[in-house]
Amino acid sequence: PLIPVVLSGGSGTRLWPISRRDYPKQFLPLMDAEHSLLQQTLQRLEGISDISAPIVVCNEIHRFLVAEQLRQLDMVHGGILLEPAGRNTAPAIALAALQALKAHDDALLLVMPADHVIGDITAFHRALENARAMAGQGKLMTFGITPTSPHTGYGYIRTGEPTGHGFAVNAFVEKPDSETAHQYLAEGGYYWNSGMFMFSAQVYLSALEQHAPEVLSAVTGAWQQHAGDLDFTRVDQKAFEQSPNISIDYAVMEHTDQGVVLPLDSPWSDIGAWDAVLEARANERDEHGNVSTGDVLLHDTTDSLVMSQSRLVATLGLSNIVAIETEDAILLADRDRMQDLKHVVARLERDG
Ligand code: GDD
Ligand code: MG
Repeated sequence: PLIPVVLSGGSGTRLWPISRRDYPKQFLPLMDAEHSLLQQTLQRLEGISDISAPIVVCNEIHRFLVAEQLRQLDMVHGGILLEPAGRNTAPAIALAALQALKAHDDALLLVMPADHVIGDITAFHRALENARAMAGQGKLMTFGITPTSPHTGYGYIRTGEPTGHGFAVNAFVEKPDSETAHQYLAEGGYYWNSGMFMFSAQVYLSALEQHAPEVLSAVTGAWQQHAGDLDFTRVDQKAFEQSPNISIDYAVMEHTDQGVVLPLDSPWSDIGAWDAVLEARANERDEHGNVSTGDVLLHDTTDSLVMSQSRLVATLGLSNIVAIETEDAILLADRDRMQDLKHVVARLERDG
């Protein structure tokens, strides 16, 4: 069976001040007023044939948020797997693999970030169908997005020989520097890694054993002590903390020669920063290119994102800005500086 694994452990610092450590972006209704990004990720699974209840992997501190959001969806889930500490996606997925193998030794995992927007559900479902057979044969399937800019926040996949519905992965480069990304775009023949994966749980653990054995040994150590009830599964903290802090991209995808990329022909966005929210909600733009929510008055304002949660926000004579109002903090920023917001948040954390 295909077991969806939703990664819900990110901290979303580039979406401050709405996203907070205790309440990060995946739990927020950033795209529509009703459902959070996590809930939209789960809803996107509806209609896929032959699929098990999804496992959500999150940090211990977010367990009630996840449980409550699952409850609101009224959806059967496969349990919430709690990480005692954040060690990035390689160990988080390893925990999910061990959990899945408990029930089925031929489990296939569909790994999905909890904070993406996918515009064309039919195309998404088709890509998943196309991935299954090769995932069953031991391939590590990725889903490729046609790059539109030399973005340095993504993994870049160079395509090799055509195989099945996609291409062998010739090279996987996680977050190249700007010069390299420019070069890839000019060269052509690259996809962005969408951050979703499909592979057999066994194959993933073997890949870890080969390419990141310290991750595997820490996670298997932690799993030996696992205990759970209907909702939550916990593992040993001390053992888990021994794992290096590393993503699947650096730990496995850059090294494996079993990678296959399937093009995902759909509007797609990693809601990583405020400019991405503006782009993903482009259909809501007013005639001046603004997207606004809440109690907002825009005058001679263009190409801006203005969100208000608790007060009237008025703007005058501004262009290309992001203004986010919350009860206790306000962000006013240049739209072109959104990748740097993490430095502001780091200062806040340091200076209190
Ligand atoms: N459970 C859990 N635990 N989830 C985590 C953890 C963790 O320690 N760390 C991150 N996540 C979740 C995030 O919430 C997100 O849903 C997903 O895993 C990916 O993490 P990000 O931190 O958002 O990764 P990224 O965006 O920098 O890069 C990845 O995604 C890009 C596409 O959006 C990579 O896979 C890139 O190659 C890819 O292009
Ligand atoms: Mg991301």
